[in-house]
Formats: sequence, C-alpha cells, structure tokens
Amino acid sequence: MAFLEIKNVNKYFPMENGSQLNVLNNINFKIEKHEFVSLIGPSGCGKSTLLNILAGLIHADSGELLLNDKAITKPGNDRVMVFQESALFPWLSVIENVMFGLKIQQIDKKTAYTKALKQLKAVHLAEFKDSYPHQLSGGMKQRVAIARALVINPAVLLMDEPFGALDDQTRLLLHKELINLWLKTKKTIVFVTHNIREAIKLSDRIIVFANNPGRIIEKINIDLPQPRNKDNKKLVELENRILNLLQSEMNFEGGYRYEEIGA
Ligand SMILES: Nc1ncnc2c1ncn2[C@@H]1O[C@H](COP(=O)(O)OP(=O)(O)OP(=O)(O)O)[C@@H](O)[C@H]1O
Ligand SMILES: [Mg+2]
Repeated sequence: MAFLEIKNVNKYFPMENGSQLNVLNNINFKIEKHEFVSLIGPSGCGKSTLLNILAGLIHADSGELLLNDKAITKPGNDRVMVFQESALFPWLSVIENVMFGLKIQQIDKKTAYTKALKQLKAVHLAEFKDSYPHQLSGGMKQRVAIARALVINPAVLLMDEPFGALDDQTRLLLHKELINLWLKTKKTIVFVTHNIREAIKLSDRIIVFANNPGRIIEKINIDLPQPRNKDNKKLVELENRILNLLQSEMNFEGGYRYEEIGA
C-alpha cells in the first residue's frame, strides 16, 4: 500500500456543444510518504483538475483516490493547497493570514500565534508579521501562503504552479526555501508546474502528461540528492528528454510553445 494512490481516475467536463470532455483519462500513479512529485504537461491536460480532486474540492467520475488507505471524498486538514496567486485575505495581516486555518480548527489564539510565528520564521518573514498582503512582493506573498499551508501540518502539500507568477530570481530563491522546508519537514508534495527545469530540480519523480484526453505519458524518477545543481549533466539530459517528450505530443493549435528555459 502506497501513501497516496490514484487508481483509474477519469474525469469528464461538459462542453458548451453538449459533448463531454475527457479531462483525465485513466490516471494511475502512487506517491510514497515524503516524496516530492511534480506533474508537468501542456495547458489543459488536467493538472489542476487532478490537484482539485486530490484536495477533495471536486470529484472524479470514476476511479479511486486513497490517502493512507482511506478514500479522499472531501477537503481535509491532511491536504492543503497552495495556488499560483497566493489568495491571501487582504484584510488580514500576515500573521493573521497564517493563523486563519488554526482558528478554523478552534486552536486557542495564543497557541495559534506561537505556531504561526514559528512558521513565518521558517520562511524568513517574521519581521513582516504585522504587514498586510498589499505591502508584500509576489515572492513574499507566496512564502506567506506556504507558511499558511504548513502551519496546519498537513500530510500532503498540493502546489499548483506556486511560483508561476514570479520572476526567475525570486523563483530560484523560493526553490531553495521549499527544498529546505521539504528536507526539514519531509512533507509529501504534489507540485504542478509548466517549467521543466523547476520540476527536475525539485522532484523525486516527474509525471508527464499529454492532453486530449489528459493522460500520463511517462513517469520519470530522478535519483539525485538535494540540493541539486541545475548544470548537473544528468539534469540537463533529463530536461531535453522531457522537452522532446512534450513537444512530440504537443498540438500547437490553441496551445502554447513549451517553456524551454526556466529558472
Ligand atoms: N469547471 C470546469 N468546467 C468545464 N471544464 C473545465 C472545468 N475546469 C476545467 N475544465 C477544462 O478541463 C481541462 C483541464 O483543465 P485544467 O485546469 O485541469 O488544466 P491544467 O492542466 O491545469 O492547465 P494549465 O496548465 O493551463 O493550468 C481544460 O480543457 C478546461 O477547459
Ligand atoms: Mg492549471
């Protein structure tokens, strides 16, 4: 039994013309505890849909999703999502944002404050605890979002292009922070990205998707210790392999060219 199991998952969405779009086609993979797995693939191949299903926000039409041998049917504190845009509450201060999930769990304010502050320290933002989201840069907001997710101590962190809107330099910095947090906390991470280099730098395993219908075309293990150097020969080879895989599957009509160079 694996920690997280995705078995024969299918998802359809109704189209305007009355037909059904097969967004996820017979998706099967397993994730072990403490693994960092990236999902990569062209726009529209169902990555966010799959993450939303794992979060329990939407349901698969068929198949099974198991976490620790228990079916995923609804959202829960064992899984937390971090989105591309940090989705912080603008009317709450940084620390109040981080405390929010703890408040819902009815943890007393003093304990919540202590936990939130500790988590803000871990993302190097303690001194901004009383600032408001509009006073932060994009990278800082994402760090608050990561702190807000981690403070709940979820078993699985679901990340949907969390660094997609950031400049390359900030992205590189956050890679380092995320890897450090991951090494320290050993969370299980499912990470969606368009950026091949980001995926190979961060992940233990990459699941490559194609679209129409959204399906898995390859699973690649990356057996290199962290932290990794982006110029490592193996990583460069892998990057080209994945790029070729995606380009050979790519339908450019209505799509976009794959990002070749990323942070
Ligand atoms: N609620 C919905 N109703 C109808 N169709 C949807 C819905 N959500 C997603 N879709 C469709 O499902 C497909 C997959 O969408 P999804 O957002 O999962 O793709 P993605 O792989 O995350 O793409 P991107 O890389 O652009 O974020 C798309 O064709 C999209 O139009
Ligand atoms: Mg998406």
